Amino acid sequence: MCGIVGYVGRSEAAPILLDGLRRLEYRGYDSAGVAIIAGDQLETRKCAGRIADLGKLIGKDTPVGTYGISHTRWATHGKATDQNAHPHFDASGKLALVHNGVIENYQALKDDMLREGNHVFVSETDTEVLAHLIGKIYDSSGANGSTPPQNSKSRLVAAVRAALQQVIGTYGIALVHRDIPDFLVGARRGSPLVLGVGKDENFLASDVSAIVAYTRDAVYLNDFDVVAVERDKFEISSVAGEGGKYEVSKVEFTDEDIKKGDYPHYMLKEIYEQPGSVRDAMRGRLSHEECTAKLGGLEMTAAELRDVRRIVLTGCGTALHAARIGEYIIEQLAGVPTEVEFASEFRHRNTPMTRDTLVFAISQSGETADTLGALRESRRKGYRALGICNNVASTIARESDGGVYMHAGPEIGVAATKSFTSQVTIMALIGLLLGRMRHLSTSEGSAIIDALEALPAQIEETLKLTDQVRAIAKKYASVNGMLFFGRQFNYPIALEAALKLKEITYLFAEGHPSAELKHGIIALVRPDLPSVFIAPDDAVFSKNMNNIEQVKARKGPVIAITSGACGERLANIADDIITIPSAPEFVTPVLSVIPLQLLAYHLAVELGRDVDKPRNLAKSVTVE
Ligand code: M6R
Repeated sequence: MCGIVGYVGRSEAAPILLDGLRRLEYRGYDSAGVAIIAGDQLETRKCAGRIADLGKLIGKDTPVGTYGISHTRWATHGKATDQNAHPHFDASGKLALVHNGVIENYQALKDDMLREGNHVFVSETDTEVLAHLIGKIYDSSGANGSTPPQNSKSRLVAAVRAALQQVIGTYGIALVHRDIPDFLVGARRGSPLVLGVGKDENFLASDVSAIVAYTRDAVYLNDFDVVAVERDKFEISSVAGEGGKYEVSKVEFTDEDIKKGDYPHYMLKEIYEQPGSVRDAMRGRLSHEECTAKLGGLEMTAAELRDVRRIVLTGCGTALHAARIGEYIIEQLAGVPTEVEFASEFRHRNTPMTRDTLVFAISQSGETADTLGALRESRRKGYRALGICNNVASTIARESDGGVYMHAGPEIGVAATKSFTSQVTIMALIGLLLGRMRHLSTSEGSAIIDALEALPAQIEETLKLTDQVRAIAKKYASVNGMLFFGRQFNYPIALEAALKLKEITYLFAEGHPSAELKHGIIALVRPDLPSVFIAPDDAVFSKNMNNIEQVKARKGPVIAITSGACGERLANIADDIITIPSAPEFVTPVLSVIPLQLLAYHLAVELGRDVDKPRNLAKSVTVE
């Protein structure tokens, strides 16, 4: 979603801030801006549109200064216009603020200040209200301009604290003041903010990938932290004014890891990384000796795991689809009743739960507001709530009672790909672990391990289908939409394939259990609307065949994803057949999703879409 980058050091700020914003481009935004203190001037450049537009604006007349803040905005309050772009300023025009999150009580705060009479607001944003509030408190706390600089610093931090105490909502903020040299203030609640610690320079960013090219030493701020940042030091305290605890961590990836390399798009790179990312999700977690999985991060004893009577899997978007496969896997392998809940619904619903329920919050970013809300609500009610995250420093990872890291490496493409197959792999590890504590025999455990260990090579094999899939994408490039169908373990793949197609091609797409076709969806079938069936060689193949016949009888084109000998049975009926390697049912989704990721990708390229930055979407959805 929105991105923040701040810099204070000895280098020119403008190129560092612009470079940082470019690295956050994948998160989704619709306007961008910077504020740099150039001598005794607070210089700002901002505009609606892309970072390239901001770059041109800066290029015409670059502000010269060694500290400043910058932002990419994803519109919430007010349209994507130059005026609404951040930074925003206080009434004096000396304080500039960038903000991620939502100030829920902004209207009440604005009305109060309007009544005072000396505040004029030039944007429709909640952020401008916060800038005015901080500036007002700062100005009233001393004779402006006449205080020694050190005193001004503590006064500004105190003003930030006092303002944030009045705020209801979420924020990650960074600000500068024209009269306070070489000084930034940052704070967070609900929106991530990280401090990058350099040599004679320090950084603020909403995502460490913005600054990893400059430093790999980072302090991940906690909710209610306020940080005062100078070139050679920083101080962390809380909104309440207490001293904050912090730890400097090493960022686990490098700048190289977040480069596209020779791939035209991050999405394609990440699709091709799946043999490795699936291997990394299993690395060190399979025991041939005990024929089970080892998941120490769950922080649960064998007795506690045996006592689990019910599992709730929650998440959003692609993570929710992985959860849906998890429901099938865990119930099949472990026989533990498992339910899937949209995080956005679960967090506000009064679901009856029992003491022996275990909740898993699944999230690549670990920052998704609804998933975090569901995790917090579960913990508030006393349930053990675990995280399955890729981002190790994320809020969900830090606030959960334990969990499993995906270790998939940074995922930059807005359309989630490798995180999905890692999540499904982790679902299988959980199913295996819980199953071996219940009814699964050693030989069954061994067979599951063999199936999991075969996956990376099978994914390599599946990736070789890319030319065939590209040709199919070309063939159907003029359609207005697609339907996706699957059964059992592959029903969620129909959902995931439809989501991928919608996200990056903007075509209409729906995913359904195959059998639902005859309950209404069949009315949509027509010669120009292809149906994609995920119909591997499994226990429900012949049922899928019946549904394929129903579509063909109505002249609907059929693309079939199948495996083993089933390709022959489909030869005279499906228009296009994509054959993936054969695998046991519970791991097939890891393979069947790959041609569908490729189909969405090639179709999007064919249609000239911006694959890595699809319209209106953000990588990490930190608002409700
Ligand atoms: O970071 P998360 O896994 O929590 O993100 C959840 C969804 O926002 C995400 O999967 C979204 O649906 C993707 N754009 C799907 O490709």
